Amino acid sequence: MKLKRVAVLISGGGSNLQALLDAVEDKDDPLLIEIETVVSNRKEAYGLKRAQLKDIETHYIGKGNYPDLAERDEVLLAILKEKNIDLIILAGYLGILSETVVSEYPNQIVNIHPSLIPKYCGKGFYGHHVHEAVIKNNEKMTGATTHYVDSGIDTGEIIAQMEVPVYKGDTVKTLSERVLEIEHLLLVETIRKICV
Ligand code: GAR
Repeated sequence: MKLKRVAVLISGGGSNLQALLDAVEDKDDPLLIEIETVVSNRKEAYGLKRAQLKDIETHYIGKGNYPDLAERDEVLLAILKEKNIDLIILAGYLGILSETVVSEYPNQIVNIHPSLIPKYCGKGFYGHHVHEAVIKNNEKMTGATTHYVDSGIDTGEIIAQMEVPVYKGDTVKTLSERVLEIEHLLLVETIRKICV
């Protein structure tokens, strides 16, 4: 069986990337993918270290080294092509992929978002902003969603969702931790499902 060749795109701590790395190494039920490269649009992203610890090739492609968006995409596409990537996972990637990249990989890019789409998604809703809004609006439930990426922001076909409760007195920290915990499960299960 040919394993899917995967590129993981990140921007920060990379705990979702870590969940994938751990699942690949799971002795009883390994996640059958090959993570060929990890790309970050932030130079200091800790996720880059997580990948390097596993001897995975990493790249920084951000405004700092490629100020021009078209050039960033060209560099990214060249890496994806060179590595024969079949699946791109946006695991906490806070950049926006341009149409050039998205159209090259239809139904081959998966994003994880920390809310129950269609709630709290789209422009401006990422990371802690999502949890702030959920708390402010006194939501009783929130969660995470995996979806395919199309040319809109968080508009692609939903693959799976998981819910968690929001408790009275939750802070962005407590809520984001609760959501991250299920993100790790959801992301691994989603990738298992689409890599059978
Ligand atoms: C995660 O909560 C992820 O869902 C979110 O950023 C965090 C990254 O955590 N992504 C978005 O908001 C995308 N719109 P991680 O770096 O520890 O995986």
